[in-house]
Amino acid sequence: MRGSGKLITFEGIEGCGKTTQVELACRMMAARGVAHLRTREPGGTRIGVEIRKILLDPKNGHLSAAAELLLYAADRAQHVQETIVPALEDGTVVLCDRFTDATLAYQGYGRGLDRLMIQSLNQMATGGIRPALTLFIDVPVTVGLARAVQRNHQEGVAETAGRFEKEAVSFHTRVREGYLALTVSEPDRVKRVDGNRSPEETHQQVLSFIESLLAN
Ligand code: TMP
Repeated sequence: MRGSGKLITFEGIEGCGKTTQVELACRMMAARGVAHLRTREPGGTRIGVEIRKILLDPKNGHLSAAAELLLYAADRAQHVQETIVPALEDGTVVLCDRFTDATLAYQGYGRGLDRLMIQSLNQMATGGIRPALTLFIDVPVTVGLARAVQRNHQEGVAETAGRFEKEAVSFHTRVREGYLALTVSEPDRVKRVDGNRSPEETHQQVLSFIESLLAN
């Protein structure tokens, strides 16, 4: 399997299991000797870690929708310039836990902000860098939310990182619908993966999409 500077992103609602899938994909790449970099949004840079704290803190429930959008864009602009572009230029495969589609799904479909405006902001933040492949790990909303709430409690971060888990089920339903819409509007790039199975079964489907991307 060859690398050659491709950006692969992982997306989905809360608790869909995408972080586990990023981990399994990285292990597979390491085993096959593919140069790769694992990163995430928000929080893929030192500055991004600071932005992430603001975004996820449940104390910031009153953060305005516009401020939230601009903070995700700021995190992305820094991340693309500092981390993603240099890695792609080095021929590294970049595996990123969330990227531009999360803003369309959460701030566009979830919050109801203008999607054309979000696309312009994404364009500005990325300088036009686009994922070669996006894996949408799909689970029913009730399954994802139950997993996310349990995880936050187990990790003791419910009080510091649970702002989105506190949103209504209808919000997460709209986010999921946003991702599903992307699989229809950009079927060559955005692939739906069934996340409502064992992590290993889900990984096999992820693997087949990554293998066909890197074979080309
Ligand atoms: P994570 O739980 O995958 O680390 O993502 C952090 C949260 O940020 C998650 O609730 C989704 C949300 N998010 C957005 O709302 N918009 C975005 O652009 C990104 C990257 C994440």
